[in-house]
Amino acid sequence: NWTPDSFVDTTVKSLQEKLGNDKVVLGLSGGVDSSVAALLLHRAIGKNLTCIFVDNGLLRKDEFTGVLDSYQHMGLNVIGVDARDRFLSELKGKTDPEEKRKTIGRVFIEVFDVEAHKIQDVKWLAQGTIYPDIIESVSVNGPSVTIKSHHNVGGLPEKMHLKVVEPLNLLFKDEVRRVGRSLNLEETILNRHPFPGPGLAIRILGEITPERVALLQEVDHIFINGLKTSGLYDSVWQAGVILLPVQTVGVMGDERTYENAVALRAVSSTDGMTADWVHLPYEFLANISNEIINKVRGVNRVVYDISSKPPATIEWE
Ligand code: XMP
Repeated sequence: NWTPDSFVDTTVKSLQEKLGNDKVVLGLSGGVDSSVAALLLHRAIGKNLTCIFVDNGLLRKDEFTGVLDSYQHMGLNVIGVDARDRFLSELKGKTDPEEKRKTIGRVFIEVFDVEAHKIQDVKWLAQGTIYPDIIESVSVNGPSVTIKSHHNVGGLPEKMHLKVVEPLNLLFKDEVRRVGRSLNLEETILNRHPFPGPGLAIRILGEITPERVALLQEVDHIFINGLKTSGLYDSVWQAGVILLPVQTVGVMGDERTYENAVALRAVSSTDGMTADWVHLPYEFLANISNEIINKVRGVNRVVYDISSKPPATIEWE
């Protein structure tokens, strides 16, 4: 009979047998999977685990410092790496979604590799891969067709010459959450919506500039915060905002404006493979739209995405 506690017990034991006194490095993303993997390994091997959390400049507003703080409170040995400038300068001028993903994946590997090799004698790379990740990379990336290069850091183990350990690779998301709860992972991380590896880069359609990242962070913050304070956050599987590559005409006082349009997206799903748009209350949408337009300079129009997956996808790129 599977229970989170028994899973923790058996996995900790088998990790101890497998890893002995070896050093392990793990990349934290702020998401639930990598966090649970880190806590499990921490329980098994303690200070022989080093975690690396990279700020790629494409995270949500205040996410890097907030999450880094929580990890340190949990007692994890974690190194925060500020690589914002590096990512943003490499993304300069790139507009193609796949090119953006590949650039981010490559830079991540380069940054991570440098940090990981500062750890003496590191032998293992731990990853928070879960069961659906494995299924999805098989079905999505067939031999002749690649829909999206989702698993952005697939090349990491080969490049690093490390052995790979994936303690969650037989679990589904809900099981990962239950294991996380049994390891006392904070609720804010436990219930966090999924967030794509390339982050806001694939929600800024067209070219990414530091100004556009900052603008989207503000709008996204208002939307996500609004969902939380209205008690809607936990009933939504994933939510975010897309910054559109169009300017639209508006009016403010006696002036005509010509500014950005943003699209809000909120979906229900169980695994991200299919999804429905969430019927958020009109009142909520009205308030959020007003708040965004009143508070964020440079946005004069808000739309709500009412497409389901399939045939649309959750992200716009
Ligand atoms: P789509 O847009 O394909 O998204 O319906 C399904 C889920 O996958 C996430 N997603 C990504 N995650 N790297 C990731 O790590 C990516 O390149 C990527 N693209 C989409 C998306 O946020 C949703 O949860």
